[in-house]
Amino acid sequence: MSFMTEQIVELTPEILARINVGKAMQHVSLASIPDTAPYKAALLTYTTRIVECVNKGVGLFLWGDTRTGKTCAAAIVAKTAAAHGGKVYFTRADEMIHAIQERERFINGTTETTVEKRVLEVDLLVIDELSEPADIKERRTVERVIRQRQDRQRATVLTTNLTKDALRVAYGEPFLQSVEEHTVRLPVFGVNWHEMGKDRMRDFLGAK
Ligand SMILES: Nc1ncnc2c1ncn2[C@@H]1O[C@H](COP(=O)(O)OP(=O)(O)OP(=O)(O)O)[C@@H](O)[C@H]1O
Ligand SMILES: [Mg+2]
Repeated sequence: MSFMTEQIVELTPEILARINVGKAMQHVSLASIPDTAPYKAALLTYTTRIVECVNKGVGLFLWGDTRTGKTCAAAIVAKTAAAHGGKVYFTRADEMIHAIQERERFINGTTETTVEKRVLEVDLLVIDELSEPADIKERRTVERVIRQRQDRQRATVLTTNLTKDALRVAYGEPFLQSVEEHTVRLPVFGVNWHEMGKDRMRDFLGAK
């Protein structure tokens, strides 16, 4: 049962730690994405309608080349859901697979649970950097997580640089189809973050 509401709560360091979003991603926001970015409008719509999207199990499929802004976009979505009171977990795909296969425990202040249970139960799960599975066991782990979350109508955000064809080869047509039925596909491209980063460094300390 989700307790997400339209009301916004402050994202405390404790909440951010529980989401598990990387430190560098804790400060990214929609505001830093240029309005000219082709993916910004859809991201804005999704985050504006986050309560409805998450409650209906509508996820996002953030697809794009290397360093186009997928992880930052996923972090923005994760933080928005958490700010609305949602239980959110952000994990890299390889870390999630490893944690589930090793039956690792997720310790969060006073409560302790397995990573797998948390992955299945949160209102919004972000699986960052989905790539080709190393073996059939990894493939099955990813398939199971996605299927069980869909069965429970829970929203999942995926980021990947695998093309549709590569994803089909790696995980099979049924997997691709079920992802397509439960996520909005959003190609992430169009911002030169590298140049913006270089400019920021050039301006740092007022250097010309
Ligand atoms: N919304 C944003 N706000 C601020 N900076 C951003 C944002 N999106 C991207 N960037 C900048 O661009 C860099 C690359 O973004 P990000 O890591 O999200 O890309 P990616 O597509 O996930 O890359 P990879 O394919 O390597 O995982 C970030 O380190 C950051 O400096
Ligand atoms: Mg990334």
